[in-house]
Amino acid sequence: MGSTTTTDEIRLQELKAFDETKAGVKGLVDQGILKIPTLFHNPPHNFSTNTKQTIPVIDFTNIGKDPNARQEIIRQVREASETWGFFQVINHGVPLNVLQDMKDGVIRFHEQDTEVKKEMYTRDLTKPFMYNSNFALYSPAPLNWGDTLVWHMFSDTAKPEDFPVVCRDIILEYGRHVMNLGLELLELLSEALGLDPNHLKNLDCYKGNALLCHYYPPCPEPELTMGAAGHCDPSFFTVLLQDHIGGLQIRHEDNWIDIPAIPEAFVVNIGDVMQLITNDRFKSAEHRVLANNIAPRVSIACFFRADVRSKEKLYGPIKELLSEDNPPIYRETTFVDFVTYFNSKGLDGISALQHFKL
Ligand code: OGA
Ligand code: NI
Repeated sequence: MGSTTTTDEIRLQELKAFDETKAGVKGLVDQGILKIPTLFHNPPHNFSTNTKQTIPVIDFTNIGKDPNARQEIIRQVREASETWGFFQVINHGVPLNVLQDMKDGVIRFHEQDTEVKKEMYTRDLTKPFMYNSNFALYSPAPLNWGDTLVWHMFSDTAKPEDFPVVCRDIILEYGRHVMNLGLELLELLSEALGLDPNHLKNLDCYKGNALLCHYYPPCPEPELTMGAAGHCDPSFFTVLLQDHIGGLQIRHEDNWIDIPAIPEAFVVNIGDVMQLITNDRFKSAEHRVLANNIAPRVSIACFFRADVRSKEKLYGPIKELLSEDNPPIYRETTFVDFVTYFNSKGLDGISALQHFKL
């Protein structure tokens, strides 16, 4: 027993020391390390990928103009959400310069003077902005090779001075666009389920959104760690913008499949809470990000979530989707209970949905 305690204590000290640098993984890279700390060692990951298949790419051209085009888009969204839980969207209407400016802004944030950046380092979930490395740093799971700036978009208390100076304007502009696209997706997903277009919106699936601005520095030993270990998202769905570097993969029928980097597209994925409320009709697919030793990678994930401050609203399988042949698989939960459970686990490779099964 003595030796286990000692190992745990050493790990805790190492985690605290890393946390207290407030410089994240970027700080380790800036020191010029050639070997990564063992805290970041993940179990060997299987690189075998199936390159024959890839997730659908859905073209939103004419979505608001031609009812037939819209019906065809809904059909494709349904098929992708039922089979893959993942798709890319092109011609989504968000100006391409906004996408590029946002990626540039995220690079500016993470590559600014460390002393300035440190002032925003926190794990306080009630803050409008939170910059840190590894949201579940103190969970037993191995660490991931990346840093993140989170904007809790629901935070109506955010004052202009709370925003990071180097990307204030673009983060606000990007936030507006991604919210509009997400509201459109909520209509499409509702219709894809055969529900009223406003059904999901009326469940407040967007009132607690979080924007995660990830920075994955180049890694000297990429085969020993992960940018993000395999996980499903604690959201209804996630709208992700990635740069040209690549490394995002999804698990599909026991293969890891590359998601091609299309810098002008959004990657949309179904999250665990959508799988729960659709009683497994829409699939929340496991995905991961490989580390690389070539260049920093940035991505921006908008998690569509309910407001974690609302303690009453319960989410369970949607009644209209249930029948005698399709009884509920999950119990009801508040959004905050789901997220709290998810965060306590860290990215340990086990689906959080198991915990909510009836
Ligand atoms: C996430 C995520 C993927 C990426 O934020 O949950 O899976 O490409 N991000 O950074
Ligand atoms: Ni994810």
